[in-house]
Amino acid sequence: MKSRRYFQATKSVAAFAAILIAGMVSGLPRVQAQDGNEALLIQNGLTIVPVPLNLSGKDLNLVGLGSYLVNAAGDCNGCHTAGGPPNFDYAAGRNPYFGQPKMIDPAVYLSGGRNFGPVGTPTGPSGYGGPAIIARNLTPNYAGLPEGGHTLSQFKQIMKTGVDFDHIHPTCTAAQLTAIEGGATPVCIPAGQGNRPEGILLQVMPWPTFQNMTDHALEAIYEYLSAIPCIDNTTSMPPAGAPNELRNQCTQPPTAPATVPADAGGTPLSSMELRSHSPQRQ
Ligand code: HEC
Repeated sequence: MKSRRYFQATKSVAAFAAILIAGMVSGLPRVQAQDGNEALLIQNGLTIVPVPLNLSGKDLNLVGLGSYLVNAAGDCNGCHTAGGPPNFDYAAGRNPYFGQPKMIDPAVYLSGGRNFGPVGTPTGPSGYGGPAIIARNLTPNYAGLPEGGHTLSQFKQIMKTGVDFDHIHPTCTAAQLTAIEGGATPVCIPAGQGNRPEGILLQVMPWPTFQNMTDHALEAIYEYLSAIPCIDNTTSMPPAGAPNELRNQCTQPPTAPATVPADAGGTPLSSMELRSHSPQRQ
């Protein structure tokens, strides 16, 4: 009996090894499409959504799969939340780490704002480590585009390459490095010896992992992020004086008038200045 079981186990190990070897010889083993499995993920995703969704014009299958990837696998809200201690992304009294029944805090869900501090070891002159890296707002903007207004194609590029279209913390120029020696703290990343963070690339954000996702998975995340409620935190951005990394507005920003009245005097305000609720970048 014992030996028969052993024989069967050996047989399946041998079969598995044969598949592996076949895979190594002729590329990866071919897999069959598992539609049933994706349906389960979609169903699960739709069950665990922690906020009301705007499903108008959305593909429910993509939304469900996106929710699964955001809420069950990617832990996007673990970083992209403004919630601070003691409950972070959970509602007060509903923190599972305190043994309470779990509930995500919808007031800060994916609204960005968590401060990760400067990038790694101090690399610049005078021990300057660069600006604080702050998780960005992933909720849709006033036009319904997720994560503050990026298109699907931009979103895919961000997730696959870590490119920062907002250029929020470029690599320091030579002039900025000199200014840092004089005590300035510009919003740029100093590239130093042995540790050379690239200012153009998103830091902390796990894009080197997420870039392994399929296009279909990224499209699902984008669709889900289009369906969640907008949270405007252009005025409540930690820390004080940080650049406007969260820049998300739920209502259309006022546009500058084309001309100013003759008696107004002075120079016309730029549209940036008119957005008084939008903090200035440093
Ligand atoms: C470990 C923390 C962490 C996790 C987990 C994380 N992010 Fe991020 N993400 C960040 C930080 C921090 C930034 C800003 C980085 C910077 O400024 O250099 C960022 C930036 C982004 C940006 C760029 C936004 C913009 O406006 O350019 C996108 C898009 C994004 N994250 C999507 C996601 C998605 C989707 C998930 C889940 C699948 C996720 N992130 C999970 C930390 C995280």
